[in-house]
Formats: sequence, structure tokens, C-alpha cells
Amino acid sequence: MVKAIYPGSFDPCTLGHLDIIKRSSALFDEVIVGVLNNSKKNPLFTVSERVNMIKELTKDMPNIKVMSFDGLLVDFAREVDVHVIIRGLRAITDFEYELQIAQSNKAQHSEIETVFLTTDIHYSYLSSTIVREFASYGGDISSFVPKEIIPLVEEKYRNINVKGDKDGQ
Ligand code: PNS
Repeated sequence: MVKAIYPGSFDPCTLGHLDIIKRSSALFDEVIVGVLNNSKKNPLFTVSERVNMIKELTKDMPNIKVMSFDGLLVDFAREVDVHVIIRGLRAITDFEYELQIAQSNKAQHSEIETVFLTTDIHYSYLSSTIVREFASYGGDISSFVPKEIIPLVEEKYRNINVKGDKDGQ
């Protein structure tokens, strides 16, 4: 039985992420989507919101498990006894960064293998940062995120903008 971890911030989960999750689920017996609880960043969605969002999106995929993790990815991999890490590659700029991380993870944990899946061409420009940027200005994000995620992102920015208006009074 070959298990894999697909780690990320997923703030929020995009159509590109979901595509990688679906394709990974066909390649591995079990895929753990590892949602990073990064205390250094100030995410739009809390870690439990991000976990629940991906659980909802993958509810019909029996071999997908969604978990959050703190700290180093290699420590999480040891904890769940998984030796394969999946990452999506969009462009050459991703490759340089991802190669460095894959090699440093391997230096820390020699049994770890990183598998790269090339992002579907439709989503090669897409990132959570792009989603947040467009949504923060009220832009249309329907071609960026699964339809279930649209109202959640819009709601976040409505609250942020209302709070901003109040604070700016
Ligand atoms: O979706 P992202 O933000 O590109 O995902 C990055 C992630 C979560 C895979 C990476 O930041 C990570 O593994 N963080 C955990 C801390 C860690 O292991 N750092 C060393 C490798 S960067």
C-alpha cells in the first residue's frame, strides 16, 4: 500500500489544488492532504476552516484523508509513516524552489521521495495568492476556486471590508 502526503497552505484551496488531489488519488492507495498550520503567517482562513473546506470537496474520494500539521513536513511524514510527498509544478520558477525544498527534505529524512505532478495547463497561472488578490477587490473568482469555496471567500472579504470601514470611521 503506497501512501502519499499532498502538503500545502490551501488558503484557499484552488481548482489547481483540487486537480492535483484528484490525480494523486488515482495514483496512490491513500493520499493525506496535509494542511499547514503556520503560526508565522496570518492566513485568510483558519486551519480548521481550510481542513473542513477540503474535507467537503473530497467527500466522494474515499482514499483522501485531510489532516492539519504544525512544524516540519518531514516530522509530519514520520508521524503518519508516509514516505512520498506530492507537489504540483506550474512553471520553471516553481521548479527551482521546489527542487531546493525536495532536496533539503531528503537531507533531513533520507526515505522521503518527492513526486512532482505538472499542473493542468488551465491552472498554470493559478495560486491562492491570486485568488485572495482578486477576491479582495471584489473580482470574479469563479474560474479560480471550486464553486463551494466562492461564497466562503466572498464572506471573508465582506467581513474584512466591513471591519475596515468601521475602523476607518
Ligand atoms: O502551499 P504552499 O504554501 O506552497 O506549501 C508550502 C509547504 C506547506 C509545503 C511548505 O511550506 C512546508 O512544508 N512547510 C512546513 C515547514 C517545513 O517543513 N519547512 C521546510 C521545507 S520549506
